[in-house]
Amino acid sequence: MHKNITIIVAEDYETMSHKAAEIFAESITANPNKSFGFATGATPVGMYKNLVKLHKQENLDFSGVSTFNLDEYHPLAPDSPQSYRQFMYDNLFSHVNINKNNIFIPDSKAADPHMEAKEYEAKIENKGGIEMQILGIGLNGHIGFNEPNETFDANTRYTPLAKATIESNARHFASAEDVPTNAITMGIRSIMLARHILLLANGVNKATILRDALLGAITPLVPASILQLHQSVTVVIDKEAATLL
Ligand code: PGA
Repeated sequence: MHKNITIIVAEDYETMSHKAAEIFAESITANPNKSFGFATGATPVGMYKNLVKLHKQENLDFSGVSTFNLDEYHPLAPDSPQSYRQFMYDNLFSHVNINKNNIFIPDSKAADPHMEAKEYEAKIENKGGIEMQILGIGLNGHIGFNEPNETFDANTRYTPLAKATIESNARHFASAEDVPTNAITMGIRSIMLARHILLLANGVNKATILRDALLGAITPLVPASILQLHQSVTVVIDKEAATLL
């Protein structure tokens, strides 16, 4: 394993979520005015619950931080239950003292999504870059909506979703036909610019892709494999996801 990657194997999902929240909270406390990168999906829900608890019980302070989400569907109504904006408010933003003016999520209704992506990249830079980026990992190795075969030097952009991703995300919609076919996502390059990466994964179905991403060849076929070249990655996973490492 690369020495820039620290792997923490937790007993179960609860423990994984608790540990990840602890690491993230430490970073926020040490960098109260910096920018942080958030991810959606089933994986980080438990971590967000723990962050809300830390805010309510131990005054974890979000008032000075800026937040950038990895990605957002396009087009989709921003208040649709499946939008990532809605997810973030439901799971975290509505429950902590984040300044709403410092929340950045790509606009799911932008008239010009290419321009929106360009401006989003510039906003991240203007806010000093991302201190710690939370990541999940797709079954096909995607991070954000950087699907297999996307170039590693891609910036934030408007992009089609892979068929496998549409099928996987159909569980959140009435049917696969209702899943938006496109998204705005931070690029691999944008993600790699974050000073620290916190990657979460749980469940036996993530074991194979974690092995490929962390121990396999560094290849655009497995987008997350680029993390082997990042200077500071902490991987927090449960025992089931760790079975092939
Ligand atoms: P999941 O999604 O957390 O719902 O498994 C991960 C991802 O696709 O990045």
